This record gives sequence, C-alpha cells and structure tokens, in this order.
Amino acid sequence: MKLQNIDDLKNIGIEGKVIFVRADLNVPMKDGKISDNTRIARFAKTAIELSKTNAKVVITSHMGRPTEAKEKEYSLSQIINEVSNCIGKEVKFIDDCIGDKVQTAISNMQNGDIILLENLRYYKAEEKNEEDFAKELSKGFDYYVNDAFSCSHRSHASTYGITKFLPSFAGRLMEEELNALESVLKNPKKPVCAIAAGSKVSTKLDVLKNLSEKVDYLIVGGGIDITFNFEAGYKVGKSVCEKNMVNIVKEIRDFAKKNNCEIITSIDCITAPKFETDVETKIKSISDISDDEMIVDIGQKSTEAISKILEKSKTVLMNGPVGAFEIPEFAGGTICLINKIAKLTEEGNLTSVAGGGDTVNALKLCNAKERFSYVSTAGGAFLEYIEGKELPPVNVLYR
Ligand code: 3PG
Repeated sequence: MKLQNIDDLKNIGIEGKVIFVRADLNVPMKDGKISDNTRIARFAKTAIELSKTNAKVVITSHMGRPTEAKEKEYSLSQIINEVSNCIGKEVKFIDDCIGDKVQTAISNMQNGDIILLENLRYYKAEEKNEEDFAKELSKGFDYYVNDAFSCSHRSHASTYGITKFLPSFAGRLMEEELNALESVLKNPKKPVCAIAAGSKVSTKLDVLKNLSEKVDYLIVGGGIDITFNFEAGYKVGKSVCEKNMVNIVKEIRDFAKKNNCEIITSIDCITAPKFETDVETKIKSISDISDDEMIVDIGQKSTEAISKILEKSKTVLMNGPVGAFEIPEFAGGTICLINKIAKLTEEGNLTSVAGGGDTVNALKLCNAKERFSYVSTAGGAFLEYIEGKELPPVNVLYR
C-alpha cells in the first residue's frame, strides 16, 4: 500500500482535467481579517503545482462551524485575496459549493485556472457525510485531491464520502504531514522521545498509551505531570490534578514499563499562590509542596534532566507545553525546552516534530516555528493520529 500522491496523479495525465481539491482553509479570523495565514500559505504549493500542470483546480474548504443560517462571518469570500496572494495568481470565488453556479464556473474554466468555492459546511449534509451530497459535490470533476490533513479526523462528505465517486490522491501538504508523523511514530531514528503535556490525563489517555508503546522516553508535562507525581505519593497543594486518575496512571506506568518506555516526571517546579500574573513564584522540590501552593511550571533541575534526555534522543515529538506558558512568569520551562529542541535540530542531531494548538502558540512565542524539523498545521487530527486512531479519509488515499 502506498500513499497516492500528486506524482501518481500527474502520471495519469491531468492536463485539462477538473480537480476537486479539499483544503483546510479554516484560518483564525479577527474582525473579518485573517490573524494567521499559515494554513493558506502551506496549502498554496498544491494548487500551484496542479495549475502549472494545466489542470483546472477547484479549491474547497470549510470555515468554522456555521449553522443553517449560513452566517456571513464563515464565508470563504473573506479569504479570497489571501488565497490569490499565496498562490500568486488570481483565484475566482464562487458563492456556492454545489449546483448550477459551480457547474457553469467549471465549464468556463481554462486549463490552469483556479477557483475557490464557498464554505462546504453551509450544507449540513457535509458534516453528516450524506451520500447524495457527496455525489453532488463530485459532479463535473475528474479527480479528487485531499490536502486537508488537519480535518481528516472528520469523515465528512468532502473528506471521505466523495472518495467513493472520484479517484483520490493526497496533496503535497497532506503528504508532508503524514511523512512527518511517520518519521516519529512509524520509522523513527532511535532513541525517540515524546513530550505529552496538557492539563488532564483523562483527555490524553490514548495519547499516553499509544506513545508509551512507541517511544523510548515519554516526558509528561503540565497537569498530567502533576497527576503522575500525585500518584507517586507527592503532595500537590492546590495544583490542577486529577486525583481520581491514580489507578489509570498506575496502568499507564505498567504498560510503559512492559514496552521499555521510560516515563519522565518533574523533580522540581515553580509554584505560585494563584493562577495569575504578578504573583510571587517559588522554586520548589516536588517533595516540598505546601497546601496553599499551585505548581505552574517545571523547575531548572527538571529542565536540565529533560535536556539530557533530548541530547540522547534522535527524534522528538512535542505535543503540549510543560507549564502554563500563557502567563509570562510561568513560561520559563516551556521556553527552555523549545529552545533546546530547536538548537539540537539546527545542529543536525535531532528530528523534531510538533503539533497541537497550544504547542504551536508556544513555538510562536519563542520564534521557533522555523527551527523545528516540522510543525503540523493540525490540531485535532494531529492528536487523533498520535492516539493511534484510524483516520478513514487518510486511509482511502493508500492503494
Ligand atoms: C481545525 O481547525 O482543527 C480543523 O479545521 C477542523 O475544524 P473542526 O474542529 O471545526 O472540524
């Protein structure tokens, strides 16, 4: 089984063919303006390559979660200029994604032309993956390209249903995302280390289990780390901690041990009286937390211990910050580790892959996005992949 990519599509011959390209142009907007164009910029190469091969390129996407009211704030018309800018060619906007308007637009296209259709989620049948809607979407098209890894954890009509009606291929961004994840979880250079951090063990249970089967070192951070330390018998004061997860944590520790995975928890930490800026912070050993303290970051000894693990590793996956980095006083541990990973990557000693909304925000804070080997454009899909879940819209691209 091999991922069918754009090279395979080109080998078939696509000059003059009409291609349905599912992108994820669900970019963050503020007051009608794009606040981060990464997804458009990273997708652009697929559209450029298909257009240069003289195909007729029809880009589709969802934006946000509109209701039946088809709210204007979710219209893709708002991003058409940025799509044209990133692709470097005029892209025409069609204000529907099925029906006569689309069919007329397709019949007027010249080879190499690119158009963008309106938000797929203006039709509820999209999210319900209704077969009739998927068939309607495929009308007038010769091939289907999925370049939307970041929403391929959703089996919707445009990511999955449509593949029943058109020969399906992966776009360049989809290919990059899968290659990056495979370089960590399927055929990595060993030793492999993963940082799995977040406020709750319960929301990262599958991630922790799947990673402890696949990596050599599993560094837990944030509330997960606190819950692991609580299970080990330490007091955690007022910290965010899921005390009811103690048995689950034990299970994860046993499972990791069986799989020769070493779980690394913090040995010291930064504490604060409350979760606010401008409060007095203290550096504390993990065995010395009093009832009125909250753990808000890892301490220097933990940072040094983790740095040593990173130095021994050849591959690292980062999902989640190790402290409450949104508050500057609590960001030190996360910043140190990101800079360490970035430096080891730049020196050619580490392959580093990061993903997830909080992680990407932390990387932005450190200006380190370009210094990692790969930063995913995906949030939920990245998580489901590292949980080891099946992604049907991705699976159908392998033949
Ligand atoms: C995302 O932003 O993670 C994707 O575009 C998926 O969006 P959704 O969570 O609304 O399906």
